[in-house]
Amino acid sequence: MRNLMLVLGAAVFTAGSAAAVDVSSIDWSSIAAKDVTLFYPGQSSYQWLRSAEHKRADRKVKEGDSCVSCHEGEEQVLGEALVVENRLEPHPVDGKQPTVSLAVQAAYDDTNLYLRFQWETLNPYPGTAHPHWTFKDGAWEVVGAPRLDEEVWGEGLPAIYEDRLSIMLDDGSVPMFAEQGCWVSCHNGSRDMPDRAGKDAVNANPLLGGNLGRSDVRKYLPATRSDDLATWDQTLSVEEIAGIKADGGFLDLMQFRAHRSLPVGMADDGYVLEYRLTDAGTNIFGTNWDKEAKQPKYMFDAAVVGFRSRTLDQIRDLSQPSSLVVGVNTVPFDPNAGWQEGEMIPEYFVNRENASGSAADNTDVSGTWEDGKWTVVWTRALDTGNPADDKIMTAGGVYSVGFAVHDDNITTRGHHVSFPLTIGIGAEADIMAVAQ
Ligand code: HEC
Repeated sequence: MRNLMLVLGAAVFTAGSAAAVDVSSIDWSSIAAKDVTLFYPGQSSYQWLRSAEHKRADRKVKEGDSCVSCHEGEEQVLGEALVVENRLEPHPVDGKQPTVSLAVQAAYDDTNLYLRFQWETLNPYPGTAHPHWTFKDGAWEVVGAPRLDEEVWGEGLPAIYEDRLSIMLDDGSVPMFAEQGCWVSCHNGSRDMPDRAGKDAVNANPLLGGNLGRSDVRKYLPATRSDDLATWDQTLSVEEIAGIKADGGFLDLMQFRAHRSLPVGMADDGYVLEYRLTDAGTNIFGTNWDKEAKQPKYMFDAAVVGFRSRTLDQIRDLSQPSSLVVGVNTVPFDPNAGWQEGEMIPEYFVNRENASGSAADNTDVSGTWEDGKWTVVWTRALDTGNPADDKIMTAGGVYSVGFAVHDDNITTRGHHVSFPLTIGIGAEADIMAVAQ
């Protein structure tokens, strides 16, 4: 299986403007790679970093000192300390690697930034599968969950979750992002973090439950909370948050997803402010569930792929499509098709045609997995035309970035993350994009 080459994603999508180079013509072998060490962060939340437990560092962190001012070159040591059971990791994942080495290369022209990423997966297969609906005792129920879920480690549900590569980007508008990176967005109360907020409490919060209709806490920025420790429920008003957003005080967050974006040659496009949100418009993936009928919306089109469903032992068959791609390999779900116990249909669908607006800005992202390693090539317009929820870049500019890799069927804090870095569009920085 290790030598199987998997080529997924877009065939060829033409880029927008005449000034843009053909991404396939970029000679990556002539562009130096920055080797970024991502490490396992455990539960090192914004609040923990500011607590007395972060000995002799809490005051400096509050003042905004950078993590690397004390921890430069310590990624391996931190990863090794945090990946096993310790005060910041109550439930270690068996066999998880302390660090992931991410090679990053960058190029640009008048129109676009081009990024190429390479990293090795722990498993001898890429994480292109994601949870499914399975037919059991006459009804559809979810099978598969990320490894940190108690359903997996406690109840034996199979670990199934897509591989991801995430980019957080800022232009200097978000306080402390340049110094403390992703840690400004990671808080107690969030999923899989200490003092996880319960559904009822989140529902009762006027902003998260009331305005956003959410029942959990995800990434947010300290500026959207009213107290010094940025407690999850101390939320500002809708109007105050709109003001921060209008001033650009959000983080761009884009994710390559091996199940939910790659099959249509895209990455998703979101931002972090009072929550982790999708940009305006229509996202490229959606939940494959008809709430009223209590059944999937789509199934595979047997006339196209040769099957209507999968079984647990088939979902990692790399010779077959893993995702439901609307308009390409799906038909509407047929409840009268004589469903058999154990048949499985993906929990999400992907839809390039229907994706729209700022949520659909990353239209040219390809990925291959070969010999245990992902190679992802990503085109991002310097100016997406959507400054309300994207960071706009220009030649000569330097921006702050944080990277994360989700490997081996994991989500939430089970990822590997980088300390913040700078990227220069033809300018001096940790990662320098080379003019094309
Ligand atoms: C002023 C110096 C300083 C700064 C700034 C700082 N740290 Fe620390 N950090 C320390 C020291 C010293 C320790 C060891 C304390 C201990 O283990 O008792 C530590 C421990 C940690 C640990 C726990 C490791 C373990 O073995 O349990 C983590 C995680 C961590 N720091 C992350 C960060 C992050 C992320 C940032 C940036 C937001 C940061 N630190 C900023 C000095 C600093």
